[in-house]
Amino acid sequence: MWPSPSPATRSSSMSDGASSVSGFSMASIARQTQFATSVRDSSPSNHISSPPKAESPLGILVVGLGGANGTTMLAGILANKLNIDWHGPKGEPMTPNYYGCITQLDSRGVHGGVGYRNVIRGLADANKCAVGGWDIRSDKPGDALLKAQILDYDLVRQVQGEMNKIKLFRGLYDPRFIGSSQHETATYILTEQEAKSDAEALKCLRADIRYFKWKNGITGHTTVIWSASVEPNSDLVTRIQTGEELLQAIEMSEDERGGPLPPSLMYATAAVLEGCSFVNGGSQNTLACPGLAALAQRHAGIYCLGTDFKAGQTKFKTAAVEYIRTMGLTPKVIASSNHLGNNDMRNLASEKAASSAKLKVKHDIFSPWEEQDLDHKVSIMFTPFINDDKRDFVEYTSLGFLGQVHTMVTYTRASDSVLCVPLMIDVAVWCDFFSERKWPYELVAKALAYLFKVPEGAAKGVDPGFFRQMEELRVQVMAADGKAYVSSPEKGITPRLGENRPRIGSMSVEWVIPRNAGIICAGLGCVDMQLNQATGGDGGEGIETFEGETSIGGGRYGHSLLRFVPSLPSSLIVLRLTNSRIMNAKKSLPS
Ligand SMILES: NC(=O)c1ccc[n+]([C@@H]2O[C@H](COP(=O)([O-])OP(=O)(O)OC[C@H]3O[C@@H](n4cnc5c(N)ncnc54)[C@H](O)[C@@H]3O)[C@@H](O)[C@H]2O)c1
Repeated sequence: MWPSPSPATRSSSMSDGASSVSGFSMASIARQTQFATSVRDSSPSNHISSPPKAESPLGILVVGLGGANGTTMLAGILANKLNIDWHGPKGEPMTPNYYGCITQLDSRGVHGGVGYRNVIRGLADANKCAVGGWDIRSDKPGDALLKAQILDYDLVRQVQGEMNKIKLFRGLYDPRFIGSSQHETATYILTEQEAKSDAEALKCLRADIRYFKWKNGITGHTTVIWSASVEPNSDLVTRIQTGEELLQAIEMSEDERGGPLPPSLMYATAAVLEGCSFVNGGSQNTLACPGLAALAQRHAGIYCLGTDFKAGQTKFKTAAVEYIRTMGLTPKVIASSNHLGNNDMRNLASEKAASSAKLKVKHDIFSPWEEQDLDHKVSIMFTPFINDDKRDFVEYTSLGFLGQVHTMVTYTRASDSVLCVPLMIDVAVWCDFFSERKWPYELVAKALAYLFKVPEGAAKGVDPGFFRQMEELRVQVMAADGKAYVSSPEKGITPRLGENRPRIGSMSVEWVIPRNAGIICAGLGCVDMQLNQATGGDGGEGIETFEGETSIGGGRYGHSLLRFVPSLPSSLIVLRLTNSRIMNAKKSLPS
């Protein structure tokens, strides 16, 4: 039996009253926004027993909500939710969007691709999500956003007041797990009295999560995202093997267990115990704790995912090196540097153990490719003047035909947080999507590997290639949605989607074919014929071979989306047909 939390005793201090701020009415905003607005309150009233004020289909709780990522996310969702217009740096008119969030964008173009919003029905709408979280700094979120100098000022000034109304939860702080540059500002924290032991601190965090869910009337899944400063790695977490051991470790004193538990593990445990998923966007080894994964897996639909968001330079590297390898070249040297001056870098610069954790995950990304003598170097420089406006350089040197040298250079300049926030929104929407379907823990880890520099758990060692990972996402999403079930390429399946979709006359077909199996057709008429043991003949549209597969004839009635979801993971598949003229082919599926 898991320990039960202390009753939450909260009240809201947010004023719902109307006030007016540049360009839009606070009264209407107060009605529309569903951001978390709680404060820790010593009064003993138990609000959780009364009905919530609002309802929201999705919860996002961010550890480090007052940071660059957290405040950029709040501003972005608010701008979209309220459809705020603003002027860019040169006075150009700007409108909000969710570019970069593939769960919020439609698929587009003849071959599809891009987003999933119109592909998967029922994906949570980010405009309706509730956002809350913790920080250890006392800055109000709107003021913190202004200070961080990330977004256009004309947008910031319009959201600042509303964001300042959002009350963050006070964070769990341990100076041993954060750079010295952050110590002075760490004043907004659980008191020694509240967090007099880890067990008590856990109760506080659990109560925060419960309060957030209640206050916002969360009807779907809530995901807790670590977007706080990188911690040093902890050896202790790797030694906690089971869920029971993890809970016992939290009950023990530091002396009994042999060291401190990192705050990230405490938040993660609280999340899991409250039925939320936990995502580690930082580079510390929180998810190297087998006990945490074991605890999460006690209940279907709770995921622990990480490590370290793969937002910018690393993500592009995985696409570029995949390209080099796919061309048959041999990568020899990847020499990269990036520089920026935001608070995350300030923390890394002041805490050597944390920057080692960051560099370790960056170095590790290519290991599954087992390229011999691949010299992969990464250097990070702290340059305060350019703040969050990160620049990165990468030079790729490879060997081509007859050992001749092939060199490419890339340069990227973009706001670090603007790159990262779409991943935070998407991961919460995906967790909600998979959780609702109770999709297996291991498959979700593989599906969402594209979001992390070093995917954990079952996703450890997956192909790091960007396009391979996006393909795995698509395969799992479609399968979880009942559109097609395809196992991963390692299991002998060759998914052929998107770009490979052929056009036959005006007919468009998508398919996925097991390597050792064949194709099952296509359209209801065809199914009828197959059921009737049809063998071709006058079908007319039947093809004779298809990449070596033999075929049989079929019918003319393929006006539908045919779903064929076999129970065995290694078999499959679906053809999507948009015209009555159908190709058909058949061979037995693997048993
Ligand atoms: N921005 C990106 O592109 C990117 C990419 C990958 C990973 N990350 C990671 O995301 C995290 C956040 O990045 P950022 O740029 O927003 O950093 P930031 O320094 O601006 O924000 C971190 C926030 O976390 C707070 N914090 C620290 N310890 C805390 C604790 N124990 N409890 C609650 N709050 C705590 C800090 O006060 C700060 O406000 C970092 O770990 C960073 O390495 C960022």
